[in-house]
Amino acid sequence: MADAQGNKKAKDYHIETPPVQQGFFVKGAGNGDWGLKNRLSKIFNPDTGNTVMLAFDHGYIMGPTSGLERLDIEIPKLNPYVDVLMGTRGAIRTSIDPASSKPICLRGTHDDSVLKDDMTLGSGLGLGIEEIIRINAQMFAIQTFIGSDGERDSLEVLCRAVDSGCRYGIPILAVVAVGKQMARTTEFFLLATRLLAEHGAHAIKTYYCDDFEKVAAACPVPLIVAGGKKLPENEALSMVYKSIQSGARGVDMGRNIFQSISPVAMCKAIRKIVHEGITDKEAYEFFMEENK
Ligand code: 5RP
Repeated sequence: MADAQGNKKAKDYHIETPPVQQGFFVKGAGNGDWGLKNRLSKIFNPDTGNTVMLAFDHGYIMGPTSGLERLDIEIPKLNPYVDVLMGTRGAIRTSIDPASSKPICLRGTHDDSVLKDDMTLGSGLGLGIEEIIRINAQMFAIQTFIGSDGERDSLEVLCRAVDSGCRYGIPILAVVAVGKQMARTTEFFLLATRLLAEHGAHAIKTYYCDDFEKVAAACPVPLIVAGGKKLPENEALSMVYKSIQSGARGVDMGRNIFQSISPVAMCKAIRKIVHEGITDKEAYEFFMEENK
C-alpha cells in the first residue's frame, strides 16, 4: 500500500555527510557492473580479498583420478573447508547438493584428453552462458594455451566468453595451461597473464614462478595460483605461502588437496595461510597437529 504519510515524515537526509564512496576490493573490477561485482564478492572473501578454490575438474581430461574416483563421496567432505568449487557441469549436476551455498566456478571449455598426450593442442567452448546462469555459477573458467598450437582457438573462445560474461555480469577466469614443450619461465607467465587480462578476463589462474611479484604487479586483475602435480605437503604449503606473499589473491588446487594424506587438514592449513596470514612453517605444524 502507498504510504504518503510516511514519506512526509522522512527527515534524516544527512545533508552534511558526503555520499559513501563505493570502492571495490577486487583488483581491476572497479568499473564493473553490480552483478559482476556481487559474483566476484562470492569468489573472493571481502574481508581478506583472497580465495581458496577446490579444483576437481580433472575427470574431463584424465578420467577417474586418484583421490577423485567418487565425486559424490570426496567433494562433500571438502566442501565446508573451501570457498569455491571448481568443476564441470557433469560433476556439479551429478555430485553436488544443489542446496549447497558454495559458489561454483564452472569449467567452460573442452580440451584434448590425456590420450593425446598434450592438452594444449586443441580445445573449444564446451557450454554456453545460459548454462552458467542455469547452474547459478558465479564464475566461468576458460582454459587457454598461450604459445602453443591451440593459442588462436583458445583466445577466440576466451573473447566470446568475455562477451557473454560481460552481457550477464559473470566474471571469466582465464586458466593458463603450460604445454609439454614449454618452459615455466617468469617471462612466459608475465606474457600469458597480461595477455589474458587484456583480452578481458576478470581473474587469471596461473602457476607460481620465480619473481612472481612482478607477474602479479603487471597483471591488472587478480592472480589465483594453480596446484599442479602432487607435492609433499610441506612443499605445497610453501608454494601457497610464497604465492600469497608475492601478490596472488588465492589458490585453486586439486591434487595437492584430494591426494594428500589428509585432505581436510590440508584444506584447513591452506586456509590459514590464505586468509589468516600464517607462515608455511606454521601451516605445516598445524597440518601435522591435525593429523595426530
Ligand atoms: C588445469 C586446471 C584444472 O583446474 C586442474 O584440474 C587443476 O588441478 P591441480 O591442482 O590438480 O593441478 O586448471 O589447467
